[in-house]
Amino acid sequence: MTDRSCAIGVLISGSGSNLQALIDRCADGTIPGRIALVISNNPGVLGIERAQRAGIPVTVIDHRGFDRREAFEQAMARELDAAGVALVCLAGFMRVLTSWFVGHYQGRLLNIHPALLPAFPGLHVQQQALEAGVRFSGATVHFVSTTVDAGPIVAQAVVPVLPDDDVPALSRRILVQEHRIYPLAARLFAQGRLHIVGNRVLIDTPRELPDQALINPSPRV
Ligand code: GRF
Repeated sequence: MTDRSCAIGVLISGSGSNLQALIDRCADGTIPGRIALVISNNPGVLGIERAQRAGIPVTVIDHRGFDRREAFEQAMARELDAAGVALVCLAGFMRVLTSWFVGHYQGRLLNIHPALLPAFPGLHVQQQALEAGVRFSGATVHFVSTTVDAGPIVAQAVVPVLPDDDVPALSRRILVQEHRIYPLAARLFAQGRLHIVGNRVLIDTPRELPDQALINPSPRV
């Protein structure tokens, strides 16, 4: 075998900043993998340009051209399987997937969500966090299950919610962390270090890391 790296498929719908983070971390060797295929369900989005600039095969499969959700998903799966992907990453992919697609990629389908799941699933996530008045929000990478924004959690990053935050400010702060934890999760997957046990993900780790507590507002206020 000449190519031992993990072939990754990435599904996008929009700007593709998480795709870019995955591209960059594959390029610098952090992730022992390569992005074999990008699929966008929307034509003309920035994420397509990002893939093209990196020389990655990219295809548009517009869900509006299919009368059944599963037919759309089967078209995507044909391309992903032909590209030989071992891992599929949903990166700002805005279509709900059926149990057929989720089952087909069981244990090798990741999603990123801009909140600390299981808090604030669904849409308008940062608005939900602001309205709830939480002191922290963040981002979650999880394996996809048939329930939207559920499934075993691989990695989370926590950010403070600050007094002057609005949706754009909080979204920007979360997005910075998304770009760190998605490549981290993909790296751990590609290294074969993730094990799903029930609804938990166990990670092979060479050492115990110290406990970390976050308090907001700072006890120094
Ligand atoms: C991100 O917050 C992602 O978590 C959400 O869509 C946003 C845009 O992502 N699902 P991207 O720039 O298209 O990667």
